[in-house]
Amino acid sequence: MSMPALFKGRLSIPVIGSPLFIISVPDLVIAQCKAGVVGSFPALNARPAALLDEWLARITEELAAYDRAHPERPSAPFAVNQIVHRSNNRLEQDLALCEKYKVPMMITSLGAREELNQAAHRWGGIVFHDVINQFFAHKAIEKGADGLILVAAGAGGHAGTISPFAFVSETRSWFDGPIALSGAIANGRAIRAARVLGADFAYIGSAFIATKEANAVEAYKDMITKSGADDIVYSNLFTGVHGNYLKPSIVNAGLDPDNLPTSDPSKMSFGTDASGERAKPKAWKEIWGSGQGIGAIKDVVPAAELIARFKKEYDEAIDPPL
Ligand SMILES: Cc1cc2nc3c(=O)[nH]c(=O)nc-3n(C[C@H](O)[C@H](O)[C@H](O)COP(=O)(O)O)c2cc1C
Repeated sequence: MSMPALFKGRLSIPVIGSPLFIISVPDLVIAQCKAGVVGSFPALNARPAALLDEWLARITEELAAYDRAHPERPSAPFAVNQIVHRSNNRLEQDLALCEKYKVPMMITSLGAREELNQAAHRWGGIVFHDVINQFFAHKAIEKGADGLILVAAGAGGHAGTISPFAFVSETRSWFDGPIALSGAIANGRAIRAARVLGADFAYIGSAFIATKEANAVEAYKDMITKSGADDIVYSNLFTGVHGNYLKPSIVNAGLDPDNLPTSDPSKMSFGTDASGERAKPKAWKEIWGSGQGIGAIKDVVPAAELIARFKKEYDEAIDPPL
């Protein structure tokens, strides 16, 4: 196990609040970092692109002010998520802003790029890349990523299918750098379990949707608090890539979550809207993403309160005697 120097003395628990499309905004990132967990957001959440400059200025300034006031317990570093995919035409521009603010940590998804890793290293940042299998894990490290995010079965959003037990142990057989484990982690005992398995960090997304600072509609937050693993369906219908979604949101969109077609979504019929156009429910806006761990989330609370609960559970979690 290896925790990079960047995090030493700055975490209350070994947690990275993962980037969530639409949902992760500066209020949530700042609250997470002040409470001692890495806060992150996708650069694409700042729209229009010029807003990213404002967001980075605000996050940097507020965390620096916090650190001056609390030198004994400085905030956790923050991270920016870059979608490294040819559809992302903002990548160069967003990367230049990350360089301007010397963003401490970059999280890359949907493609590993050597130049991005090198650029982050030049300004003193580190890069974690998220992967769903060993092939992509090797590729990420070959291209110069510093750490791996293992997206195991049950994770919210675009998820993998590999058991966390197999995923961490196979990765640890060849990689001794930092590993964050993701997938259905939503309480302190599970954070402890991730460490026992051999990961350095738990990488947590869905649990943070039900926080006051998250940019999600109340009905979505409410659905997270009322749902459990049985309410999650794994489908490639909405984006073309397999992901985990809340069944009740699929019902609300007029579809049967237990009988979703699995073939090419572009050929599926979703009925027609008022203008006669084919109406397909929008992933993320109408079809809500979530991992399987949300049975542990019962209330919408400030992020600091959720993190305090995680810490208490993490401290109390021990292996009972035989
Ligand atoms: C609603 C939602 C949106 C997400 N958006 C992104 C994203 O923009 N970029 C990304 O790298 N991962 C995204 N993810 C995946 C998370 O970063 C993370 O891998 C996942 O939430 C971890 O599993 P958990 O939700 O069970 O904790 C998203 C997940 C959810 C639930």
